[in-house]
Amino acid sequence: MKISSHAVARMLGSWQEGAGPAHQRLSDRLRLLILDGRLSLGAALPSERDLAAALGTSRTTVGAAYRTLVDHGYLATRARARATVRLPDDPPPERRAGAAPSTINPSFAAPPTIDLSFAAPPAPNEILHAAFATALERLPRHFARHGYDRYGTAELRAAVADWYGRRGLPTRPDHVLITNGAQHALALLARTLLSPRDKVLIDHPTYPHAIRAFTDVRARLLPVAVTPSGWDAAQLRAAGRAAHLAYLIPDFHNPTGLCMSASVRRGLKLACPTVVDETMTDLALDGTEPEPFALHAPAAISVGSVSKSIWGGLRIGWIRAAPAVLERVEQARSATDLGTPVVEQLATAVLLDQRQTRRPDALDRLRAQRDALRQAVAAHLPDVDAPEPPGGLTVWAAFPEPVSSRLAALAPDHGVTIAAGPRFGVGGAFERYVRLPYTLPEEQLTRAVRGLARARQALVEGATGRHTPAPVA
Ligand SMILES: Cc1ncc(COP(=O)(O)O)c(C=O)c1O
Repeated sequence: MKISSHAVARMLGSWQEGAGPAHQRLSDRLRLLILDGRLSLGAALPSERDLAAALGTSRTTVGAAYRTLVDHGYLATRARARATVRLPDDPPPERRAGAAPSTINPSFAAPPTIDLSFAAPPAPNEILHAAFATALERLPRHFARHGYDRYGTAELRAAVADWYGRRGLPTRPDHVLITNGAQHALALLARTLLSPRDKVLIDHPTYPHAIRAFTDVRARLLPVAVTPSGWDAAQLRAAGRAAHLAYLIPDFHNPTGLCMSASVRRGLKLACPTVVDETMTDLALDGTEPEPFALHAPAAISVGSVSKSIWGGLRIGWIRAAPAVLERVEQARSATDLGTPVVEQLATAVLLDQRQTRRPDALDRLRAQRDALRQAVAAHLPDVDAPEPPGGLTVWAAFPEPVSSRLAALAPDHGVTIAAGPRFGVGGAFERYVRLPYTLPEEQLTRAVRGLARARQALVEGATGRHTPAPVA
């Protein structure tokens, strides 16, 4: 894939700031973009001349930066071809080709680091077992049919409709289409509703895989800031007039955990079609149980999931929309998949009917973990601002200095994996931020924060990291 000089310039952001010669700052910044996954493996970079023009710098500077990256194994070159992104040949021992196979089943082996790149809770063991037992009893009812159902099973569509009804939004089952998780729902909606070059209004920061779903269909992003005080309705409305689609995470926003206020929701009335991602809506930690967005915007397309309120391994999500919209989604679906596994749907219907998405014990545990994480930050990273989110699964922590990508590349050496702030935005924004999930036990969270503090100290002392970016969820 060729990347244009302007796209690279946007990703580089303010690369000229900092000490040292310009070519070194440029190669450092490009290396971080490679390690962070924003310049993907195999991507073809612009020519030296084009990038120099886009950056307003000399071709010598870009040439020297590219040469450094080639020397360190981050770029491959061939005569008369663009330089392509690669990674150095000496990966950590556990990834080395030919490394002795572990005798332990890899899925049960202890992870080498504490993984703070995923914001997802573990499964509620007994509840899940019981739901699957009931699902198996009900499964034979489906045996007489073919099992391909692009809208989902009647049981789950009814259970999701009731879930909205209990939240105050009357919903009929024919307004619900079941998907393989919320991410699948977003990808289907992007393919159905967008054409190349369409503009999509997004929260900034936002959920990284949503960015990916929109850029994959070659849409352009129109970021609107979500600040510590929340969403600015006037800015959203102005951007909405220029956009073909809006994608908002009103509650609880990933990564900040914020909840859009009732007054902003009620007065929003965006001019473009709006997709609201309510994946985290059942994770209110401070008593605020947000109203469904569509209550005040009946045409809104709502995306939901049980991945965060029950378990991501179920891979069950849904779209709530007018039947005409769902029909288009259903048609688009056949290009990639022909339905969602029936047993998982039946189990999820049981869990929704039993109202397992707002379990008090699970919410209590999250509150305790959120507190433990913030206390550890206060103790080991005292100059880092870690505001208390009203819900969701993550703290959006602000460092005083722009260290996020370098910290993400170095942190695994200190026993912890994080997703760097710029993954949650566009144009290289959020270099001061790190998303810290509180889905692990308290003791692990404290150890992870200590590891981050050590990594940060090592950065101050001049260390550089070389780890590839972790996947995020
Ligand atoms: C805001 C948001 N939307 C969608 C998803 C994807 O959810 P699912 O696991 O249901 O695909 C996530 C997962 O982290 C998320 O945070």
